[in-house]
Amino acid sequence: MFTLLEPMPVSMTIVDSVRESYARCRQNPDFFDAFYDHFARKSSEIGPLFSNTDMQKQNELLSDAIDSLISFSEGDVAARRHLDEIALSHDREHLNIKPEWYPLWMEALRDTIHESDPGATTQLLADWNTVLQPGVNHIVQQH
Ligand code: HEM
Repeated sequence: MFTLLEPMPVSMTIVDSVRESYARCRQNPDFFDAFYDHFARKSSEIGPLFSNTDMQKQNELLSDAIDSLISFSEGDVAARRHLDEIALSHDREHLNIKPEWYPLWMEALRDTIHESDPGATTQLLADWNTVLQPGVNHIVQQH
């Protein structure tokens, strides 16, 4: 005798759920400005680094960089190349971004996602961390 089963829901990978969260975040036109506000509040050393930055341009560059951090987690080669360029500009010979600032960058991003994504849960915020950390480590390792 056969039981009629409900079709199995197609399971979403954590990368899919992070991409969907990021799409919801980007519905907030102030998402990237809010990120830099949070980031500057994490340490008095951070705000001054952006005092001469064209923030409209920076927001666009950050938007693409987050896409690459996500795609890096899937082994995407173009994303890896993009992160290598960011690693070069941030290394000790260039912007000299201190490795200890990266956890503050991650915290600021988590704070901003928490505010901007109505679907943010503790699990989703942890998934963001899982997906982005390898790409962040890839950048920091090249300091
Ligand atoms: C994984 C984390 C990060 C990503 C994805 C990221 C991404 C970027 C991108 C795409 C740019 C513009 C292009 C470039 O210069 O390469 C940039 C510039 C910059 N980033 Fe980062 N960044 C990260 C972490 C940090 C941290 C922790 C700091 C520390 C304060 C920082 C400070 C800066 C500064 C000062 C600039 C130059 C701004 C200007 O042109 O005036 N970044 N970042």
